[in-house]
Formats: sequence, C-alpha cells, structure tokens
Amino acid sequence: MQSTIENLIEEINNYDVSNPDQAEAFRLAFLSRKGKVSQLFDTFKLLPGEEKKIYGKSVNEVKKLAETKFKDAQNTKVNQGQVRPDFTRPVKSSTIGSRHPLSIIRDEIIDIFARIGYDVSYGPEIEDDWHNFSALNFPEEHPARDMQDTFFVEKSPDFALRTHTSSVQVRVMENQKPPIRTISPGRVFRNEAISARSHCFFHQIEGLYIDENVSFADLKQTILYFAEQFFGKSKIRMRPSYFPFTEPSAEVDVYWGLNNEVDYRLTKGTGWLEIMGCGMVDPAVLQASGIDSEKYSGFAFGMGIERIALNRYQIPDIRIFSENDQRFLMQFSGK
Ligand code: DAH
Repeated sequence: MQSTIENLIEEINNYDVSNPDQAEAFRLAFLSRKGKVSQLFDTFKLLPGEEKKIYGKSVNEVKKLAETKFKDAQNTKVNQGQVRPDFTRPVKSSTIGSRHPLSIIRDEIIDIFARIGYDVSYGPEIEDDWHNFSALNFPEEHPARDMQDTFFVEKSPDFALRTHTSSVQVRVMENQKPPIRTISPGRVFRNEAISARSHCFFHQIEGLYIDENVSFADLKQTILYFAEQFFGKSKIRMRPSYFPFTEPSAEVDVYWGLNNEVDYRLTKGTGWLEIMGCGMVDPAVLQASGIDSEKYSGFAFGMGIERIALNRYQIPDIRIFSENDQRFLMQFSGK
C-alpha cells in the first residue's frame, strides 16, 4: 500500500498538464470514477480497520494533490484559452527537396525550343511495332532492328518498351497537320545488361519539324541555335551517319575546346563532343505517318539526356541518376 501511494504521488507530480488536452487527460487518468485515485479508495476500503487508520490520511492527501493540480492547470492562461498563438514567431525550417538533374536538363532543353515555337508532345512507353520500328522505316527482319536491343512484351510480341522517342514523331504526324514543331522528352529502354555498368533505361529528347520547304540548312541553323543556347558554344559540325528514318542522316558534334584537362578527357583529345543524331525525315516515314511527302519535308533530331547531364555536372557513373541518394540529389537544390 505504501509504495502504491508513493508511486501515485510521483506520477501525479510528473504529469504534464500544460495544455487543455493534457489537463483533460490528467482528469480522466486520476480523478474520474475509474481513475487511479478512485481506485486507491476502492483498495483502501478493503483494508482491515487497523491499517485504515494508518493510511487514511495519505489517501486523502493524494486525492487533494490531484485535485489541486487539476484546478491549478485549469487556472492557467493557456488552458483558459487566454493565450493566443504567436503567429509572428519564426517557423521551424523544413527541408525542401531538389529537382532531379535529369529534369533540370530536360526542362532547359524544352525551354530553349519553346522560344522558337516548339510545343511538347508525349507518347507511351509501351509501344507497338508500328510506331517504334515499321513506320520509321526499319524493314521487317532487318538487322537495323538489332541496333536497338529491344525488350519485347513476352505475351504479345507486337508490343515492346520503346527503344527511342522517335516513336512519338510518328504519333504526332498521324494526328497533326503541318506545320509541326514539337519536342518529345521521355524514357526509353534497351536491353544492354551486358556488364554491371550498363543500364536498361535512360531518357531522350526527340525533335521534329515538318512544313513546306524545310531544308537541311534549317536543320543546321536550328541545331546551331540550340548549341549556342544550351552549351554556350558557337561551332558545330555534322558528320554523315545512318538512321533508317532519316535521309540524309548526320551526327552532330559541338566544338567544346581544349582548354583544360577535363576538356581533353571529355572530348578524347579532339575538342569535339558528340551531342545528337539528326537528319531529314525520310519521305517513306512521312508517307507512313500520313503526311504528303511531295508537299512537305522536315527534319528530326534526337539526343540522350543522361549523356548531357554527365557532361554538365561531371558525374562519373550513369547509375547514380536512379539511385535516389539524397547526398547526390541535394547538390542540385536551387538549380
Ligand atoms: N532515335 C535515335 C536513337 O535512339 C536518335 C535519333 C537520331 C533521333 C536521328 C532522330 C534522328 O530523330 O533524326 O539513337
């Protein structure tokens, strides 16, 4: 009995009643009919007469202690609602997330093309054979399809994870009439699980411009504009290349310079950095997509976002983009 009383006194003294909710919780815990003080009285009543004499006084004191504490709590300004919260106090600072470096690059590219009249279009990540390959002039069973290691959908082999954002070109041309100026950012997938360093998905941005009398000179000027705006570089070169959906096709390098060690490493000592593939849309692709190739011509280009981000931020390993390591991501806050 003695220790029960002592414990209860301690419990009452330590109970925090500094706001109305706590005061009410205190009342329920100690002073209500089922509360701890009432229970103490129930036990007390069962004691033999001798012991009742010894403990009677302490039991009453416990009750008084609890009642006084509760009354005092009720009388404080806070619990009477007289103290208003101070809205002018500084708030606890909260941590704000940061943009992903790939999003930063993507949005910057979209912005640059938006300024010259390009809109943004999207297509599905699970794509059919027509939009990913056939309409883009990849012949059936042609080894050109092996250029891109495709993830096919097992149960319906007509579908695959798109291997490039060029598939969106076809969808846009099927649904819109020229003039068309569009940028298509998105995720693409390739089965390149050959080494531990390789990665099965990455991001591209596709560009498409279709109108009457669009020429290779327009393509070159547009890419030069992009190189100036994005990289701050004013010299580009185009090397002949091959893509099934463009004719002629080219690969574009920007002149990066060879001013320091990083430049040497980045450009493998050449001063030139490859940034994208491009070309004049093959008339067969225009026809397949429902555009009159006698009347219209156009160009397309495509680039990888990861590659650009790796360069810009001097990131050594592509896998870090998808690891969600906060120590990496927080370095891009405020950018
Ligand atoms: N689709 C190509 C790839 O994934 C990139 C590309 C090259 C897109 C040339 C184009 C283009 O639109 O004209 O490697």
